[in-house]
Amino acid sequence: MTQEQNQLKSKKILVTGGAGFIGSHIVDRLSPENKVIVLDNMFTGSLTNLEKSKDRITFINGDIRDKKLVNDIVAEVEYIFHLAAHVGNIRSLKDPHFDMEVNIGGILNLLEACRNSNIKRLVYSSSGAIFGEARYLPIDEDHPLNPESPYAVSKLAAEKYCFAFHKVYNLPTATVRYFNAYGPRQDTSEYANAVSIFLSRTREGKPLTIFSDGEQTRDFIFIDDIVNANILAATHPAAAGEVFNISTGVVHSINQLVKIIGEITGREIPFSHAAPRAGEVRHSRANIEKASKLLGYSPETDLRQGLLKTWQEINK
Ligand SMILES: NC(=O)c1ccc[n+]([C@@H]2O[C@H](COP(=O)([O-])OP(=O)(O)OC[C@H]3O[C@@H](n4cnc5c(N)ncnc54)[C@H](O)[C@@H]3O)[C@@H](O)[C@H]2O)c1
Repeated sequence: MTQEQNQLKSKKILVTGGAGFIGSHIVDRLSPENKVIVLDNMFTGSLTNLEKSKDRITFINGDIRDKKLVNDIVAEVEYIFHLAAHVGNIRSLKDPHFDMEVNIGGILNLLEACRNSNIKRLVYSSSGAIFGEARYLPIDEDHPLNPESPYAVSKLAAEKYCFAFHKVYNLPTATVRYFNAYGPRQDTSEYANAVSIFLSRTREGKPLTIFSDGEQTRDFIFIDDIVNANILAATHPAAAGEVFNISTGVVHSINQLVKIIGEITGREIPFSHAAPRAGEVRHSRANIEKASKLLGYSPETDLRQGLLKTWQEINK
């Protein structure tokens, strides 16, 4: 890890969606030693996410769908972390056309811009959602791809564009697919995932709603491990043209998640059940062997530690 991290020193780096949850943590890790540009249209992002790095970066309030802007910025950088997206199943069900414009139009703009540039690596943030309902567990990179929501379709299409541009133009793309990300700064709106909604409602002393019976399982990955995976994917020679499942390989049910939240917060957690939500799979667990063998990726934070860090951070 250290050797690879050292390679991202004094580099010119673009983080699209850098004012969002995951993007801002990547920016914080890279901004002390690199020249970082953030491109974000503040659709869900926020400048408070960039509080730590704001004096060290160039922030551009702009849209990934703006071809000329994307061309101009890409010409200035060597590495790209692409996180700008219309995020989540629920949003995409409400507006699948817009989802396609941002998630597919956005990557195409970047890839086309990269063809005329000197990009050393474009790391694309994809999602475990592209697999759909698991045929077997844990899910490796050879698992069938059956996205079950417009969001998952657009994330998969963008992966395939990265692959195609690597094949045809030898562009050094790499895709990292996260399963269920969590950590400080995560959205807590109705579009958010269980961890951030549960922690924020617990903080406010409000009861939780568990969709379905709570026995559905998820592979939760803490933000610091996602940042590590991105840096490995950007710097490791073996990552070019590849896709990697990135998570922990360990699962918890939603009922177990609620129990651990009760333990780390020391609070009573009242909850009720509601009907399952459309577009959500029953079980999910990543096989991370490929990332571990090729990149030396290894998750460092387990769910209990990650929840505790997140709880402490949101209570500061
Ligand atoms: N959070 C997860 O569990 C998870 C899991 C798998 C993959 N991902 C992927 O990781 C990336 C980051 O997700 P996140 O959880 O940080 O979400 P987020 O909503 O916090 O971040 C997305 C960022 O993109 C920006 N953005 C949206 N549309 C844009 C546009 N047209 N032009 C420029 N910027 C735009 C938003 O303002 C926001 O800052 C996304 O690509 C998402 O698909 C997230």
